[in-house]
Amino acid sequence: NNIQVMSGNKTEVYSYVLNVLKADNATVENLPGSWLGPVFRVKQRQRIRVRFKNQLPRESVIHWHGLHIPPEMDGHPMYAVENGAQYVYEFEVNNRPGTYWFHPHPDKITGQQVYEGLAGMFIVEGNEDHLPTEKYDLPLIIQDRIFDGNNQLVYMQNNQMSRMQGFLGDRIAVNGTLENNIHVSKSTYRFRVLNGSNSRIYKLAWSDGSDVIVIGTDGGLLSRPVRKPYVMLAPGERIEIWKDFSEMNAEGQVYLHSLPFNDGTSMGMGGGMMGDQMMSGSGLSNGTGFDICSFTVTSESGERKSLPSAFQNISSIPESEAVNAASPRQFRFFNQRMQWVINGETFEMREVADWEKVSLNTTEVWEFINGDDGRGMGMMQDMMRMPHPVHLHGLQFQIIDRDISGVSADSWGTVEDGFIDDGWQDTFLLLPGMKVKIALKFEDFTGVYVYHCHNLEHEDMGMMRNYEVV
Ligand code: C2O
Ligand code: CU
Ligand code: CU
Repeated sequence: NNIQVMSGNKTEVYSYVLNVLKADNATVENLPGSWLGPVFRVKQRQRIRVRFKNQLPRESVIHWHGLHIPPEMDGHPMYAVENGAQYVYEFEVNNRPGTYWFHPHPDKITGQQVYEGLAGMFIVEGNEDHLPTEKYDLPLIIQDRIFDGNNQLVYMQNNQMSRMQGFLGDRIAVNGTLENNIHVSKSTYRFRVLNGSNSRIYKLAWSDGSDVIVIGTDGGLLSRPVRKPYVMLAPGERIEIWKDFSEMNAEGQVYLHSLPFNDGTSMGMGGGMMGDQMMSGSGLSNGTGFDICSFTVTSESGERKSLPSAFQNISSIPESEAVNAASPRQFRFFNQRMQWVINGETFEMREVADWEKVSLNTTEVWEFINGDDGRGMGMMQDMMRMPHPVHLHGLQFQIIDRDISGVSADSWGTVEDGFIDDGWQDTFLLLPGMKVKIALKFEDFTGVYVYHCHNLEHEDMGMMRNYEVV
């Protein structure tokens, strides 16, 4: 199986090649008319071997986002290969069935490579006969882009402020095309929604006023379906949505919207005098509302399923088991001298002395705080605040506490019903002023992984650090 993943910017088109060398029970299919990579469907416990050949003019490496695999297979930037070189990924897929994805991860140029189309979905299948089958089980990869007059992708206006904020486009693409109308039959669907955008956050809602029925998160199915008026989805995150079109009239139409919200960004001295509105190169700031895509119902009736009241039980990671429950490791995400940092530091590929070290087969609690502790540069730096989607490589974790006491009421009031903190996660949204505690267990593999902000421009600026399992 030979897949070209094209990367197009201006008139140059580059590619990398993924050869699926071994994957007995897997399918790898391109999305029709898409500039994105393919959708892998792999059975749980499958061993897969993929050869990556880099034909890009710059170094690259593939990261399998959300998968629990050894460090050498995980796409740490230290394993990036140059143009013409190749790297063979081989691992057993032992994650829970669910919706994962893959994308490049070279140091400082991840944002550009993902933007140009080098990403795809990686679905782990289980025995899920009670859920919508194949034809009714669809990816929805949401991304924003800017096109120039010749219909070519434009990445960043290279100014400091737009980098600081992260890329925001003014066109919304679904599954790597601008064809935003999807035909569905009178059936029950399972949508695997991935926010594959560089820095845009979506507040997903249906136009017909029905609740968003969420059945899964980053790490697979929830223990039971959750109904929400809307769902916040930050870059890197996935949710699985259940939607029944069977009662709708033929030719009826439903939109998936992103509703307006206030993401809490403040970039100014003196209380946000420079809001993100002013800085957005595209004019579509984070938090503006728009339509993502529409679904037109055909007269054909297809598969109907009834929503299960429960899936499988999810065992929780007991906080009491954590070796550091009394004093969690703390990670402060903030801005220091026009630079996004974690605990005052930026990414260093091999600075072994001060990266986090954890022990194999232990449970820990980590606390992530959006904002400075006030000791560093004091007030000045703390006035620049943005949301950060926090992502850890190598494992799935559980959210045990989300403290919103420091979040501005103006912002919180617009997003509060949109968080799903149940189930397994590998990425979560950390709003300005917010504190989130997670429980995580280091199992099976030793070695070096990264954790970082999944606003890809922030990541490329160095808002990323290593942790090592020893
Ligand atoms: Cu999808 Cu290191 O990230
Ligand atoms: Cu990842
Ligand atoms: Cu960030």
